[in-house]
Amino acid sequence: MISSAVKQSLVDRGDVLEDLVRYLRMAWESFDRPRPSEPVVDSDLLRRLVRDIPQEGSPTSAALDDAVRILDASVSPARPLYLAYIGSSGLETGVLAAALTSAYDANLATAAGAADLLDRQAVRWAGQFIGFPVAEGHFTSGGQISNLTAVLAAREHALPGTRENGVGAREVALYCSAEAHHSIARAVEAAGLGSRCLRRIAVDTRHRMDPAALGNALQEDARRGVTPIAVIATAGTTLTGAVDPLDVIAEVCAQHDVWLHVDGAYGVPAAATATAGHWFHGLERADSVTMDAHKWLGVPKSCSLILMRETGHLRAAFGHQETYMLHEGDTANAVDHTLEYSRPFNSLKLWLALRVHGAEQYRSWLEGTLDNANLLAATIRARPDFALLNTPMLSTVCFQHTPPGLPADQLNEHNERLAHAMQRDGRVYIAPALVDGRTCLRACFVNYRTTAESVDLVLEVAAQLGRSLDPPC
Ligand SMILES: Cc1ncc(COP(=O)(O)O)c(C=O)c1O
Repeated sequence: MISSAVKQSLVDRGDVLEDLVRYLRMAWESFDRPRPSEPVVDSDLLRRLVRDIPQEGSPTSAALDDAVRILDASVSPARPLYLAYIGSSGLETGVLAAALTSAYDANLATAAGAADLLDRQAVRWAGQFIGFPVAEGHFTSGGQISNLTAVLAAREHALPGTRENGVGAREVALYCSAEAHHSIARAVEAAGLGSRCLRRIAVDTRHRMDPAALGNALQEDARRGVTPIAVIATAGTTLTGAVDPLDVIAEVCAQHDVWLHVDGAYGVPAAATATAGHWFHGLERADSVTMDAHKWLGVPKSCSLILMRETGHLRAAFGHQETYMLHEGDTANAVDHTLEYSRPFNSLKLWLALRVHGAEQYRSWLEGTLDNANLLAATIRARPDFALLNTPMLSTVCFQHTPPGLPADQLNEHNERLAHAMQRDGRVYIAPALVDGRTCLRACFVNYRTTAESVDLVLEVAAQLGRSLDPPC
């Protein structure tokens, strides 16, 4: 007999929901403006965080309270002056979708009903937003997996049957710029091709792949009988935000009949903007594109997409017929197109964000971050105590603090120490990076919460802390 008792894991459900709403409001309000410093983890929290597994439960409210204290003492890319790496912004609409997604816990591996339709609609919207003629695509757990998916699809396309037989003794090659993200090398390694077959093509002075050097490498490999699997262009490099010349690269790929994948994990949303859209000419000629909604589109991690210009390649690379997952006729299950198996309903985050804000609001947020980058670059140019290391194509600015009198051979060490001092200070969270052998501060603007007024604080804090650093030893 089925029990009529309702099973509840949370006996205090009503109170807990009230707590949750209060905590979310607190968090969102605290993200509205930069905070004066990073809080430290106090000794009480430290003690709690080394305790062994509890055998008995404890009130949800107390546990939630601990969780929020820990989060508040953690680094959050949602804060308006978190400029390190390529963050996101914990966009509120995405947070709502994440909560609902977790509650329903749909699995996009197999038939999930209306969720499948929404998933496809979100893929179409993503393609429409960046101007890519997407024929099919899927949400993945990150740019790393989207890039790996593309490499596996390209490998099967170049050498059908490889997924069963391996490449054997055949020599293969993939091509990317010297500035490509290391997820490309890892994808090539995971695909069993060996990262030695990855040709790192030289870049120009703006850190973009040199298409002539790419053509030469393809020609040389063709002469030696090496099979080209894919060219991977980057649309927004991690280090400086450089966009490879997609149109010319697409032309080279067409001449050599080789797959073109565009890693736009960070940068491709800017294809939708009036200011930076021109860098992306030729994107529509790519065979596949990676785009992370959990970076510049702000939704919470994880939410990445792999977009394909033609149907069929994903199924060729990933399709299976298993006894526990029979197909209805020739209709593929979602999992026949994806590398990942159990898949959360990540698309709801982007879908809800686009549904609430619309493409126009998104474009205006993106323009705001591009403006912030240009504003910072212009201010750096105008100051004698800073040096600009890249003219931003997108929203990344690399610069050095160059205090008068500091010998040139001490600049690298000074800037590395300064970046760490800024992280400890917490007003502006920034990371060090190495551009053309020079250690710099790297500011990446992807958060719609960052205001133009607060951009001034970046150099103010850097100059103040830079002056107070002990002379480098
Ligand atoms: C250009 C580029 N590609 C791929 C990735 C990997 O993305 P994810 O962290 O979502 O796996 C990154 C991460 O910063 C990136 O900048």
